[in-house]
Amino acid sequence: MTGTEPAARTQPMARTCPFDPPPEYRTLREEEPVASVTLPDGLPGWLVTRYEDVRAVLSDPRFSSRRRQIRIGGDVPKDAPVPPPAPGMFIMTDPPEHTRFRRLLTGQFTVRRMQQLAPAVEQIVAERLAAMAGAEGPVDLVQSFALPIPSLVICELLGVPYSDREEFQRNSAMLLRIDAGPEEVQQAQQAMNRFMHRLVLAKRAEPGDDILSGLVSSGGLTDEELVGVGGLLLIAGHETTANMIALSTLCLLRNPDQLDALRADPSLMDAAVEELLRYLSVIQFGIRRTAAEDLELNGQQIKAGTTVVAAIQSGNRDVAQFPGDPDRLDLHRTYRPHLAFGHGIHQCLGQQLARVELKAALTALFDRFPTLRLAVPVEEIPMRDDMVVYGVHELPVTW
Ligand code: HEM
Repeated sequence: MTGTEPAARTQPMARTCPFDPPPEYRTLREEEPVASVTLPDGLPGWLVTRYEDVRAVLSDPRFSSRRRQIRIGGDVPKDAPVPPPAPGMFIMTDPPEHTRFRRLLTGQFTVRRMQQLAPAVEQIVAERLAAMAGAEGPVDLVQSFALPIPSLVICELLGVPYSDREEFQRNSAMLLRIDAGPEEVQQAQQAMNRFMHRLVLAKRAEPGDDILSGLVSSGGLTDEELVGVGGLLLIAGHETTANMIALSTLCLLRNPDQLDALRADPSLMDAAVEELLRYLSVIQFGIRRTAAEDLELNGQQIKAGTTVVAAIQSGNRDVAQFPGDPDRLDLHRTYRPHLAFGHGIHQCLGQQLARVELKAALTALFDRFPTLRLAVPVEEIPMRDDMVVYGVHELPVTW
């Protein structure tokens, strides 16, 4: 198999348990760790499923970050070249271009700024909980808590007016749907760009104390690049964290022994956040790379231009890295590095912020509502099987 003709196997997508990746991943790790597959877009590709191999792919410059976004039914011609990323989409660039962006951004995402933000995050969480407590009857935890927290935080950080949230939340949700049509994607992208462009112009006219103003005044980026970077931060900054908050809540409610352990010993919270990140791996279809040259990986010949999926959701369940039972949520697990934030030069820029948010949100939620429970049977909760970022579409809870 050269990787250019369709493979018999398709990338596993169907879960049998809401918290576990599809069961085929276990077999793949054991029997075919670098597997030739047909991707959901219909293109041939390679699926890398063991922890060590996933890390190897993500830290090897022969795998380029220029890639096709996952789209079901995309009908992409097999020999079509990988399109260049939009300006500022540095998540899809390689060095030296990536280095230029990453340096500028690291200068804005300082540890100091993230630490300073912690009290503001706690305040935001407290206000959302107070609003929830004032509501009657069951509430949807996604709309009333999990989504507003990271949205408010990233708006504060970037200097985006929160009153504009409906527009950007709608557009970013469309961009993360794997079954969105090309026109819908284009419209959402253009709307996001227009929104960001207005904001860049406003920051130039009247700079504030926020990251976007900092980037504008650094002079290192063109307007087009600023629009792309702003859009990327806005999307990456709220969808991932929102889904981790809601899915972690559901997962803890479904694992009462672990929730009890956490309540009995709040100092477990840091470990709990890492274990939830590992166990839930919300970037559910893995991280895509493109082979930049013909190469060999674990005895398999991979042709230049082929998509390679670094399956972090599978690596995070690899018994070689997480001994014992990696398919169990275990807040007392001895810490070993996971892949939920990726690995290598693209490793998540916002990970410290995400940790601050997750910790604040989960601590305060279970403190404020000791009797928090699902308001519907678990089978009725709509799971985000159709989204790049896994989680729940809705989470009706009561207390
Ligand atoms: C629990 C929440 C989060 C998860 C699970 C997550 C996951 C990831 C992963 C897996 C990558 C690597 C992508 C790749 O290698 O192609 C990544 C990159 C990135 N993330 Fe996050 N992320 C989270 C929160 C955030 C937040 C809060 C922000 C922003 C404020 C953010 C901004 C970014 C950016 C800008 C990149 C691209 C970095 C680069 O290419 O150098 N993320 N994230």
